[in-house]
Amino acid sequence: MFLYSKNPECSKYCLWNPHKSRLDSWFFISMLKRGNRRLKAQHFAVVLKDSEKMIGTIGISGYSKRDSSAEIGYSLSPEYWGQGYGTEALKSIISYSFNTLKLNRIEAKSDTRNIASVKLLEKCGFKREGHMHKGMFMKGEYVDLYLYGLLAEDYNKAVEHG
Ligand SMILES: CC(C)(COP(=O)(O)OP(=O)(O)OC[C@H]1O[C@@H](n2cnc3c(N)ncnc32)[C@H](O)[C@@H]1OP(=O)(O)O)[C@@H](O)C(=O)NCCC(=O)NCCS
Repeated sequence: MFLYSKNPECSKYCLWNPHKSRLDSWFFISMLKRGNRRLKAQHFAVVLKDSEKMIGTIGISGYSKRDSSAEIGYSLSPEYWGQGYGTEALKSIISYSFNTLKLNRIEAKSDTRNIASVKLLEKCGFKREGHMHKGMFMKGEYVDLYLYGLLAEDYNKAVEHG
């Protein structure tokens, strides 16, 4: 994680800052694992099948049993951007959310300037539901967010129609 999280490009549109040392990555992973243990989140490492090299993380947080919903988040090593890994990882999490966890709705919020994230979400079937003006205070400024949602019924229809 440290090898890619130290690159400022990776966290440009994320709440977290570039990791300055391996200890930062260690704390970050501890935080993800704590979320997993509390059952509010499920974070996974994204690894290359052949070498098992870790190239990113993806997962759900803000899991609500009552609403049967959760929020998706991800970040991949800039070295591997634009090669389809984001699509593969997001499709796996979508399938896991609906087929295994039986969620009814998943959502994602993306900085409106984060073109790669916006393209990835739309490619995987997420619908833009709103523009949250100054929706988040990030790195010293209020930034605009797009709210994206995907419902189980729309996912199942898309799967049925190939
Ligand atoms: C968002 C992210 C996961 C995308 O991963 P990726 O592996 O590059 O995605 P893919 O290669 O599967 O590309 C998905 C689609 O987005 C498009 N895309 C990716 N990067 C793009 C860019 N910089 N500009 C325009 N389109 C882009 C691809 O062309 C592809 O669409 P296509 O198949 O129609 O051509 C990656 O850029 C990332 O980790 N960013 C930093 C972390 C981040 O911002 N996370 C979200 C907020 S915390």
